[in-house]
Amino acid sequence: MEKLVIKGGTPLKGDVTISGAKNAAVAILPATLLINGICRIENLPNISDVKISCEILEALGAKITWHSDNEITIDTRNITTTQAPLELTSKFRASYYVIGAMLSRKGDITVGMPGGCKLGARPIDQHIKGFEALGATVEVEKGTINAKAKKLVGTAIYMDVTSVGATINVMLSAVLANGTTTIDNAAKEPHIVDVANFLNAMGADIRGAGTDIIKINGVKELKGGATYSVVPDQIEAGTFMLAAVASKGDVLIKNCITKHLESITAKVIEVGGQIEDFGDSMRVWCTKRPSPANIKTLPYPGFPTDLQPQMGVVLSIADGTSIINENIWESRFQYTEELNKMGAKITAQGKTAFFEGVKKLTAAPVYSSDLRAGAALIIAGIIADGETEVYNLEHIDRGYENIEAKFRALGAIINRVKD
Ligand code: EPU
Repeated sequence: MEKLVIKGGTPLKGDVTISGAKNAAVAILPATLLINGICRIENLPNISDVKISCEILEALGAKITWHSDNEITIDTRNITTTQAPLELTSKFRASYYVIGAMLSRKGDITVGMPGGCKLGARPIDQHIKGFEALGATVEVEKGTINAKAKKLVGTAIYMDVTSVGATINVMLSAVLANGTTTIDNAAKEPHIVDVANFLNAMGADIRGAGTDIIKINGVKELKGGATYSVVPDQIEAGTFMLAAVASKGDVLIKNCITKHLESITAKVIEVGGQIEDFGDSMRVWCTKRPSPANIKTLPYPGFPTDLQPQMGVVLSIADGTSIINENIWESRFQYTEELNKMGAKITAQGKTAFFEGVKKLTAAPVYSSDLRAGAALIIAGIIADGETEVYNLEHIDRGYENIEAKFRALGAIINRVKD
């Protein structure tokens, strides 16, 4: 078992370059199943979720050539099976995108029930509602999902909840359908726009991505032949912004789209951090103890749930009391127990957590319960007195490329060691 050992107390200073977005990449890779051809994808993050996505595609018959850790060519002309490997699809959440893509491509697919971070109930009823509205039949039994469709026909679909996954999945299943599909109450995250841009670059006709009504005019075929570069990861950028604030550092975040970071920028300023915005990079610095602030997580463009734990670290050392309301995932306060082991004073009850700011965190062995909790605990280790050990690194490796190397380049004393 590996752990990160972090000697705290160094303010982060220097430049960091943001990788491609995990949540765009894990949708774009299965979206290649819609293409009867070859495409090249660049700026892929080098993370374990991307590697598993590639293994699933290969198991279905795709041929993948790696040009570097971040660039691949995928040939999806010969998809040979409609049975996705259960052990791989059950390993992570985004395997559900194989359903939408394969329904379009082959009209049949069986996958394992999607796994992923344990954040509480993670229903997929809106995905299924969308597939059925387009004409598919979906059966869920014994840990597997089978979806079948003789023909997919465009229709109007209203999402009962704003769901990133269901919006993308319905887009994937509607691209080759007969006629026009509209998705009302669609999610608006930057990765939704990125997936739509990718599909349009390959010949799809999707309009309105990034607004709450998306219109998809079905086309006969996607031919590929293009190169696509994945959008920078807004959550990774936000993680480094909040790490800069918490450590009283001064960090230039390169290769980000600052427009995607507005809700985080607003909160950084509210807690006393400073920002210089260059459009595709951003300098974030802070010279004083953070002020308290209240946070409500919401779908984009609201404050993202995926930065809630990292913001929680900032608020744990704020000069006063803060409240976070978590409105997306019911179990996203597990990290607060670990921060309390480090001297924080946080009380979490249901959807709400109260942060009574303390002056200092103190090192302790801590366990990441999910990907973003892991990132938060690394930031906590960087600002704590003493040597913090962070365990359960497999969660962190799912979604952050070279995280300890990036923090080390900013001056953090952080090493991965075998326990
Ligand atoms: N929901 C339903 N029914 C559905 C789908 C979702 O009730 O059919 C509910 C969920 O229970 C949740 C809310 O709708 O309360 C939003 O869920 P959403 O579908 O948007 O989440 P997701 O697609 O499963 C993605 C990211 C998550 C991120 C959320 C919210 C991927 C692979 N995952 O999950 O990322 O937290 O959107 O932004 O894109 C992470 O990266 O750490 C992570 C967990």
